Amino acid sequence: MIGVFDSGLGGLSVLAAIAQALPDADLVYLADTAHVPWGDKDDTFIRQRVLKIGQHLVEQGCTLIVVACNTATATAVSALRETLPDIPVVGVEPGIKPAAAASKSGRIAVLTTTATARSERLSRLIRQHAGTVQVDILPCPGWATRVETLHLDDPGFAETARLQLAPTLDAGADQIVLGCTHYAFLAPVLAPIVAGQATLLDVADAVARQCVRLAGACALGHGQLTLLATAQPERLQAALPALGLHRLATRLAASARLTTT
Ligand code: DGL
Repeated sequence: MIGVFDSGLGGLSVLAAIAQALPDADLVYLADTAHVPWGDKDDTFIRQRVLKIGQHLVEQGCTLIVVACNTATATAVSALRETLPDIPVVGVEPGIKPAAAASKSGRIAVLTTTATARSERLSRLIRQHAGTVQVDILPCPGWATRVETLHLDDPGFAETARLQLAPTLDAGADQIVLGCTHYAFLAPVLAPIVAGQATLLDVADAVARQCVRLAGACALGHGQLTLLATAQPERLQAALPALGLHRLATRLAASARLTTT
C-alpha cells in the first residue's frame, strides 16, 4: 500500500497523478485537516506532524510513503527518512530545475507557503539547479486556505493573484513554478493571468513517475483508495468532485474516515 499525505486537500493533486500512473495500487491518503494550513506554522510543529503521520501510515501497512506537500518536504523529509530507514519516502519539491532549463528569459518565479519560502532546502535547490537563472520566491499566505474552503475562483482572488504576480511577470519571468501542492487547484485562475508571458509548472506527474519506479509490489493491489482525515473526513470526500477529481472518487473503497495521529 502507498501512503500519501498533506496538510489537507492539496496533496490530492499529487494523489490523482499517482492513481493514474498506478491503476492497481492500493492507496491511502491522509489529510491533517485538524492542523491545516502547515505553511504558516513553525518548523518544530511541522516536523512533529510529519513524523507522527509517517509513523501512522507505516502502522497502517504502507511500504512506500509520499510526502505530497512542499512545506513538509522542505521542513521534515530528511527527519522522516531518518526515522523510517526501511521505507522509501518520496518528497515533493518545487520544479526549479525544469523551470530553469525551460526559461528563455533567464528569470523564473516560485509560488510557495511562508514555511517553504524561508527553508534552507529551497535555497539549496535553487543554488544547485537554477544556475544563472534568477529565481523570485513569492510566498502566498492564505492561498492554501482558499483551496481548503473551496473558494477557488472568486473574482477577488484573481485580482489578488494578478497583483502578486505582476512584478515578476513585468520583470520577465517566463516560468511560474507551483511550489505548493494546493496551488495546482488554483491553476485555472492563474493560467489566464500569466497567459502569453509565462508557463505554469507543476511536478505532480514527475512525482508519480518516481512512485512508479519505487512501487515494486505496491503497484499490484486492488486499485482501492482509502481517505483519512484528522478532522471532518466528510469534507475531504465531498471536495473530490469540486476539485474535478471524479476518477479518484470512483476508486474509493469506503467513506472517508476520521483518524487520530
Ligand atoms: N500543500 C502544502 C504544500 O505543498 C501545504 C500547504 C499548507 O498547509 O500551508 O506546501
